[in-house]
Amino acid sequence: MKGPIVDNLTLVRHPLVDHSMSYLRSADTDTESFQRHAQVVTRVLALEVLRDLETTPVNIQTPLEAIESQRLARRVIFVPVLRSGLALLDTMNNFVPGSKVGFVGMERDEGTAIAHQYYSKLPRQLGESLVVILDPMLATGGSALGTLNLLHRAGATNIRLACIVAAPEGVERLVTADPTIRIFTCALDRELNERKFIVPGLGDFGDRYFGTAGE
Ligand code: URA
Repeated sequence: MKGPIVDNLTLVRHPLVDHSMSYLRSADTDTESFQRHAQVVTRVLALEVLRDLETTPVNIQTPLEAIESQRLARRVIFVPVLRSGLALLDTMNNFVPGSKVGFVGMERDEGTAIAHQYYSKLPRQLGESLVVILDPMLATGGSALGTLNLLHRAGATNIRLACIVAAPEGVERLVTADPTIRIFTCALDRELNERKFIVPGLGDFGDRYFGTAGE
């Protein structure tokens, strides 16, 4: 992968992520276990995505004395890409009480692998906020790119993408479209197959998380 792309990409490393990723990737993992391990990796991912948030000093009074403390300097807005991004939402959101949430509905045509937008509802103040797109599988980048373009048109400038598995093709496509984007992923896999699934990957994340595989 080329130099500038590496600068935009953070690979989240932790033994707990390695452990849970082996369950997420295994075809033998059932829905309940898939959900639990997805929540573990999302917790570690959240801490990495939010690690360098700017804080600002505030004066507070503890029960014992006055002190200077720190609070987040900017609002954080999470934007899950429906449906699979919802799997990351509660865990992320719980780290930042009061964060706002926007929703973008993207559906991938299984034949062409092209994503089209069918829904969006975004909060205001995108321009002054850190906006974190939640999309667990960055494959061709179609859904994430559609969301990124929508967010840019709505005024967002400071945008991150949190995913669990990424393919080099998707990373390259997003960074080319927005050289300022920062992508956080728990795994950077080899490639896409002819059906545009990530390999080795973990299959269809939404189907496995929500238990709709084969339906
Ligand atoms: N979406 C998924 O859920 N899995 C892939 O491998 C690619 C896109």
